[in-house]
Amino acid sequence: MSTSTQIIDLSFVRSQFPAFEQPSLQGWAHFENAGGSYPCKQVVDRLTDFYTTCKVQPYYAFPASERAGEMMDESYRRMASYLNVTAAEIHFGPSTTQNVYVLAHAMRPMWEEGDEIIVSCQDHEANAGAWRRLAKTGLKVVEWHVDPETGLLDIEVLQGLFGDRTRMLAFPHCSNVIGHINPVKKIAQMAHEQGALTVVDGVGWAPHGFPDLKELGVDIYMFSSYKTYGPHLGVMYVKQELMGKMENQSHFFKEGVTRSMLTPAGPDHAQIATAAGMLDYFDAIYEKHFPEEAAPAERNHALNGLFRAHELHLLQPLLDFLKSRTDIRVVGPVSMEDRAPIVAILPLRKPIKEVYASLTHNQLMLGIGDFYAVRPLIDMGIPSDPGVIRMSFVHYTSPEEIAQLINGLQRTLN
Ligand SMILES: Cc1ncc(COP(=O)(O)O)c(C=O)c1O
Repeated sequence: MSTSTQIIDLSFVRSQFPAFEQPSLQGWAHFENAGGSYPCKQVVDRLTDFYTTCKVQPYYAFPASERAGEMMDESYRRMASYLNVTAAEIHFGPSTTQNVYVLAHAMRPMWEEGDEIIVSCQDHEANAGAWRRLAKTGLKVVEWHVDPETGLLDIEVLQGLFGDRTRMLAFPHCSNVIGHINPVKKIAQMAHEQGALTVVDGVGWAPHGFPDLKELGVDIYMFSSYKTYGPHLGVMYVKQELMGKMENQSHFFKEGVTRSMLTPAGPDHAQIATAAGMLDYFDAIYEKHFPEEAAPAERNHALNGLFRAHELHLLQPLLDFLKSRTDIRVVGPVSMEDRAPIVAILPLRKPIKEVYASLTHNQLMLGIGDFYAVRPLIDMGIPSDPGVIRMSFVHYTSPEEIAQLINGLQRTLN
């Protein structure tokens, strides 16, 4: 993963988010981004546009319907080019949890009784529960546990879990409580050498940079666009050649219609139409920072470096501060290496709920609990209730907000 020498124009970035102008949010620093990011104005504008000009059944031959269909198609097309895949490989569903639920049903017929799937214990329950329930249908579910101290997944441990009948491996790109960026490409290569498919939960990572899916080489990759500055949807990539092997989960007459087969609920047209707004936003940021014309996947590469450099710049003082305290345990790694700006902590000397209340009193928007990452917490011996306090930020976060966070922590703990 590269970082950029270009410095982010933060005032331009923040001018793209209406929330930063909102009087009711003034003074509040948003550190619950891993739960949901602010939407960019391009998304808000598209949603209003769709709802006011073409909120009709799409794909009929009258102008409003044609426009609705075109807006939806544009989202499939442009999302695919940003992720460096084809439009037929993109599926917009209601959420990642629901996408995995459907996927588990669609993939089960690909496997025989006694076949094995490996499921990581670093995952949010979205990429865990639906797979584990397949044990009731005769599959063997093998758990890839995390290190109880660090919360990390060890690929040497994984190597020992593969067997002749391993068919699939489910794991996260980055856990929403551990914050470590897993070496997805390497893990996917290992799985493929063993003949296993890879299903990657990218929800924790995608807010920090959309992946180049061709380069990553995974079979299925998912993220949630309400955490990537967009509407409330689950975005799922499924490698083309897999679609023919899965069981259609939609109406019988949708057999072969790839856009429908994995989204039986019927997608939210307006939100799909709006998804292209995220890419309008990325294009605007790209044009502001890079003079060269480039294809979407290349723009994405450049933006990844730009975002990563800024996020690391902000992460350093926060981690330095946390490391300097003996009254805090950081859950997950404390080094900057492969660290996403998702930092969960446990106060050691004061009750966690008291600490949390004081932090919100300091106008810090944070989360507390298990964040549905119950399995990694179990592996680490951390009770789900009250769980951990989580601080997560993204590229629109400012140094002033980081200072507000550190001051708030200092005032609370001292
Ligand atoms: C890492 C991770 N995976 C999956 C999910 C579930 O996403 P969704 O709400 O779209 O089902 C979340 C939500 O918080 C998450 O953080």
